Amino acid sequence: MRVLTIIPTYNEIESLPDTLSRLRNAVPDSDVLVVDDNSPDGTGDYADQQAAEDRNVHVLHRHGKEGLGAAYIAGFRWGLDRGYDVLVEMDADGSHRPEELPPLLAAVDAGADLVIGSRWVPGGSVVNWPLHRKLISRAGSTYSRLLLGLRLRDITAGFRAFRRTTLEQIDLSQIESVGYGFQVDMTFRVARQGLRIVEVPITFVERVLGDSKMSGNIVFEAMWNVTRWGLTARWKKLTQR
Ligand code: GDD
Ligand code: MN
Repeated sequence: MRVLTIIPTYNEIESLPDTLSRLRNAVPDSDVLVVDDNSPDGTGDYADQQAAEDRNVHVLHRHGKEGLGAAYIAGFRWGLDRGYDVLVEMDADGSHRPEELPPLLAAVDAGADLVIGSRWVPGGSVVNWPLHRKLISRAGSTYSRLLLGLRLRDITAGFRAFRRTTLEQIDLSQIESVGYGFQVDMTFRVARQGLRIVEVPITFVERVLGDSKMSGNIVFEAMWNVTRWGLTARWKKLTQR
């Protein structure tokens, strides 16, 4: 299995060095693609230096901050074009521990089409999140689960492994979500294809350095989309009878 781990970055100069070196140690066989949105803090330059020294590290530079979803879609296309078998999503800020990637890959190997590193299944947890972030995340997952009819615990999770064939069955050009709603969007689309989604417990460690890019707009976009998708799917079901 040729694995590509995609790391989107926007101003992660304080975190990326540690994340990259831990990832290269924990899963030396995985290639890495940093997708940088022209970070003013020089994250893209740092990634270029690493790529010059390590042939398993690659960088995709984008013009400006266009959101997590757009960055991942560009990364998926890059990896699909180059024949990778598994495409991994991982945050740059240390919240997703590279040491926990092997169990995710093992689950793909065992037959899953999408593996979600889950905070909200037994064995999973979150370290250092204030109560309000826990509530937003759990409420977001519960709301999405009910509206979209998904039997999953952590629907917004961002530590994931996609089988290549899973991404090939999804029309990436149709993904509308700009922010973290992208994660829900992808989950819903994979589920509708009838593919196998497996949740593996992870420990999510809140970043110590730099700032989260989560905003009210991002939460609103996600909730609005979930509501729209959920109601549309229900309406279609009703009118098809
Ligand atoms: N290229 C690019 N462009 N990268 C971005 C952008 C963007 O517009 N916005 C965020 N990122 C990168 C960050 O640099 C980081 O590596 C990763 O995406 C996650 O961003 P954070 O801002 O640290 O996210 P979070 O910790 O608040 O959110 C986490 O939890 C969400 C909800 O569960 C992430 O795991 C999300 O993926 C997840 O949906
Ligand atoms: Mn984070």
